[in-house]
Amino acid sequence: MPALRIAVVADIHHGADHGTKLGSAALPLMAEFSRFVAEARPDAVVDLGDRISDLDRDRDLVLERDVAEAFSAISVPRFHLCGNHDRDHLDVADNEAVLGQPLDNMTVDVGGWRLVLWRADSRIRRPARDGMHGFVLAEPDLLWLAGVVREADRPLAIMSHVPLSGHSQTSNYYFEHNPQLSTYPAADRARAVLRMARVPVLCVAGHVHWNTLTTVDGIPHLTLQSLTESFTTRPGPAAAWALLELADPAQGGAIDWRVLGNDPFTVRIDATAAGRRWMTQLAPFGEARRAALAIGS
Ligand SMILES: [Fe+2]
Repeated sequence: MPALRIAVVADIHHGADHGTKLGSAALPLMAEFSRFVAEARPDAVVDLGDRISDLDRDRDLVLERDVAEAFSAISVPRFHLCGNHDRDHLDVADNEAVLGQPLDNMTVDVGGWRLVLWRADSRIRRPARDGMHGFVLAEPDLLWLAGVVREADRPLAIMSHVPLSGHSQTSNYYFEHNPQLSTYPAADRARAVLRMARVPVLCVAGHVHWNTLTTVDGIPHLTLQSLTESFTTRPGPAAAWALLELADPAQGGAIDWRVLGNDPFTVRIDATAAGRRWMTQLAPFGEARRAALAIGS
């Protein structure tokens, strides 16, 4: 019996259909998701953010309330993160008011694992407004993560909207030609923090609207397909959500990740492997050879 079971949904994008995002399907799919949760009875639900496709402040508040209403049918504990579309015209406090819960960084210990809700700043800066373009990994968010890693006495399941792996975006509809917006420009600093972990670590993120597994320094990084994305499942939506099952570390701590819907994806990972850190990467071959020759001389 798994120690911790979490249903995860990402990038709901309620709103008008826009390109490959089929926002008009969001609320019917949320009704299906809440039926799934009622049947599967996980310990918690995590929403990885981008609940809406933004338009303007007034419309976004209406859309966010619609999604909050859809979530209210779910009776297990819910944890929400904000994505960039939840922050284009709204601030964190607006989202907190709509969802009725604080949206600070927080941890929850369940079943031998520590669920880490890393609600790092997910607003995309715009040149006209901010004089720059892209995500900013704020120092307080990084320091908070470093504290969690330093004090970890059990495996960590880290949830964020923006992925940290720096994985390839080749063939991603949005990001092949915009890879700078697929992660934080300073994500390497977050990865440097994670590689200090002395416990198994799993990272789960949304944002990139596809299913991936990337292993970095022994740490599996998963991304979850969006509920309403269609670039991989045209003409219909992916209708994707995931069930994450984490076994008790005392029993080996297997990590089972199963994405349901029209874009299925299943992964089973040994948590012991997620606790091993890999060797520091070799320098460019020319440099490594020169260093070896210098040592040998
Ligand atoms: Fe999204």
